[in-house]
Amino acid sequence: MEVQVIQKATSAVFEAPVLDLIQQRRSLRAFSHKLVEIDKIKSLFEAARWAPSSVNEQPWRYIYSTREQAELWHRIFETLHEGNQVWAKHAPLLIVSFALKNFTRNGRPNTSAMYDLGAANAFLSLQATALGLTVHQMAGFDREKIMNALNISGAYEPAVIMAVGYPGNPDELPEQLKQREQAPRLRNVQAEFVRNDSF
Ligand SMILES: Cc1cc2nc3c(=O)[nH]c(=O)nc-3n(C[C@H](O)[C@H](O)[C@H](O)COP(=O)(O)O)c2cc1C
Repeated sequence: MEVQVIQKATSAVFEAPVLDLIQQRRSLRAFSHKLVEIDKIKSLFEAARWAPSSVNEQPWRYIYSTREQAELWHRIFETLHEGNQVWAKHAPLLIVSFALKNFTRNGRPNTSAMYDLGAANAFLSLQATALGLTVHQMAGFDREKIMNALNISGAYEPAVIMAVGYPGNPDELPEQLKQREQAPRLRNVQAEFVRNDSF
C-alpha cells in the first residue's frame, strides 16, 4: 500500500498571545544535577489534582521516584527504551503516570480515562515550568515491564513516564540531541487544525 505523506505548514512563531508558561514550556533532555525539592514535587501533583475530569472521576495515578531512591529509580529507568535512556539517565525525578480504566462508581469502562490523565499531565507540566523545572514525557518504554517492575494491577494502564528536573547544559548531550535541544520548536499553523466550518 502506498503511504501518502502530507506536508503540513509549520511555524515557530506564536500566532496569537498565550500565557508565558505555555511559551516557556519545553521538553528538554539536558538536566542539571540539582535534585527536585520535595515541596516542588508535591506542587506538581497538586496541579494534576486540580485538572478537570469526566464526572470528576480523577482517574490519574502516579508513582514517582527521586534519584536518591536508587533502587526504585533504576527499576523505572530500566523500562525506558534505549533512545530515552541515553538522556533520561541524568533525570533527578522519574514519574510514571497511569489511568484507572474503569469508573470507581460502577465499574464500567471510563472511555475518558486517558484523556483525563493527559489533562492532568499537562497541568503538571505547566506547574513544573512555573517552578523552573522541565518535564519530558515519554511513551517510549516497555509497558509490560513497567507493570511488572512496579507490581501494578491490570485495572490501570500506563500512559507516559516523565523525566523531570532543572534544565541542564545541552553541551553534555550527544551531538545529535544537543542540536535537537537547541532547534526552534515548530508547530502546525492554526489553519492546519482549526476550521470554522467542517473538515
Ligand atoms: C505522549 C507523549 C509521548 C512522548 N514520548 C517521547 C519519547 O518517548 N521520547 C522523547 O524523546 N520525547 C517524547 N515526547 C516528547 C515530544 O517529542 C515533545 O513533546 C514534542 O517534540 C514537542 O516538543 P516540546 O514538548 O518541547 O514542545 C513525548 C510527548 C508526549 C506528549
